[in-house]
Amino acid sequence: GEMADFVVVANRLPVDLERYPDGTQRWKHSPGGLVSALEPFLRARKGAWVGWPGVADVDVDVDEFHDGGMRLYPVTLSATDMRDYYEGFSNATLWPLYHDVVARPVFDRAWWDRYVKVNLRFAEASAKVAAEGATVWIQDYQLQLVPKMLRELRPDLRIGFFLHIPFPPTELFMQLPWRAEIVRGLLGADLIGFHRPGGAQNFLWLARRLVGLEPSRGAVGVRSRPGVVQVGDRPVRVGSFPISIDASGLDSLARSKEVIARAKEIRAELGNPKRILLGVDRLDYTKGIDLRLIALQELLAERRVLPGDVAMLQLATPSRERVEHYQKMRGDIEQLVSRINGEFARVGQPVVHYLHQSVNRKELAAFFSAADVMVVTPLRDGMNLVCKEYVACRHDLGGALLLSEFAGAAAELTSAFQVNPHDLDGVKNALYTALTIDPAEGRRRMRALRRQVLTHDVDRWARSFLDALGTESA
Ligand code: G6P
Repeated sequence: GEMADFVVVANRLPVDLERYPDGTQRWKHSPGGLVSALEPFLRARKGAWVGWPGVADVDVDVDEFHDGGMRLYPVTLSATDMRDYYEGFSNATLWPLYHDVVARPVFDRAWWDRYVKVNLRFAEASAKVAAEGATVWIQDYQLQLVPKMLRELRPDLRIGFFLHIPFPPTELFMQLPWRAEIVRGLLGADLIGFHRPGGAQNFLWLARRLVGLEPSRGAVGVRSRPGVVQVGDRPVRVGSFPISIDASGLDSLARSKEVIARAKEIRAELGNPKRILLGVDRLDYTKGIDLRLIALQELLAERRVLPGDVAMLQLATPSRERVEHYQKMRGDIEQLVSRINGEFARVGQPVVHYLHQSVNRKELAAFFSAADVMVVTPLRDGMNLVCKEYVACRHDLGGALLLSEFAGAAAELTSAFQVNPHDLDGVKNALYTALTIDPAEGRRRMRALRRQVLTHDVDRWARSFLDALGTESA
């Protein structure tokens, strides 16, 4: 095929192949923040995207295909790759370790071996797609060895790496038996980006400690002046770049007649309660879905909140369903939902409306537009884009945002009601305050939130990263 000047490499393609029992298949939008942030940007740049099509053991019978403005290059994973590299090392080792060990990470040597092998496969695929001197932008924790591997194959490339999840405190990272290999893998890039300055700082400390590199200059974490470490004769820059969303796109979607009408309909379908609470998450144990349900349950039990007055809509997008932690947490959450409804619902009038499915962008925009309080309570989250999406949809200045201080977004969204999700009384009080907020105060807060989100969109994020990488985007 054709070679590309700008290549994104991510574990997942922006579309998933769905196979049905009758043998038919179709491509579906992939879940998660990474895809929703990068897709509009790459489409506009007409770049290439190297990634896995989301099903095991399927040889997608094309080497590449076009999707709107993008060219997509599928990387095939076998069932064993999927089990050991994706479900195992990526999502049962790195994911919990990098999210402050909110679940216990599993350290398995066979998983690590497979992680190395699959990373090499992604590096080789990218080496084939990238034109001479191209910019290759590698994404996220599943591919941390690719920068070094790709540099060895193709020293002519500009290589960037961005981590979409938190980078952990150094004490936690040091638990990893393969810690030095990961740090060396990342150092193959010219620029390594994190969401928060603290992540960049932690990485620089580890580069010194594990690889013996001394930072050569510069303040860490300042967007325009990342820190630098010298790897042989090559400077590697390290900095923070908080990711965002296609804010104006969502803003106009939320202003459309269709979405406005649908939002009204949703309120009616929920029984026209006085207040609607909304949660939107991948079904993941880092998201604190259980904590917000327990907070609601206690408020109902104490009759600070009355069942007919409030409905909660919780959208929990299916995610990593074969990983044990995820299976257990699904059971726990579904039990909690039934308990709350068992106790507080009336016939035809549940308190918690729970959807374990994915919905399209329009329907999601209607959820955001209908919700009086958006509840975002992760125990740890790299950024969390859902809270920014909510804000982008509230052109009416309605609604209130309750946000965990352990989401990366908390640093920017200072006018949200911020909570420590571990502090149940704190969450309950903030929830109560948000439910009963004076409308003028609500508008003041929402205006401030919108000022931040609409001026710091995903385009600005990508451009600031690529500027720092030294290849200005058009
Ligand atoms: C997070 C990660 C992404 C990942 C997404 C969905 O946003 O940072 O890398 O793609 O979750 O998870 P999945 O395992 O389904 O790709």
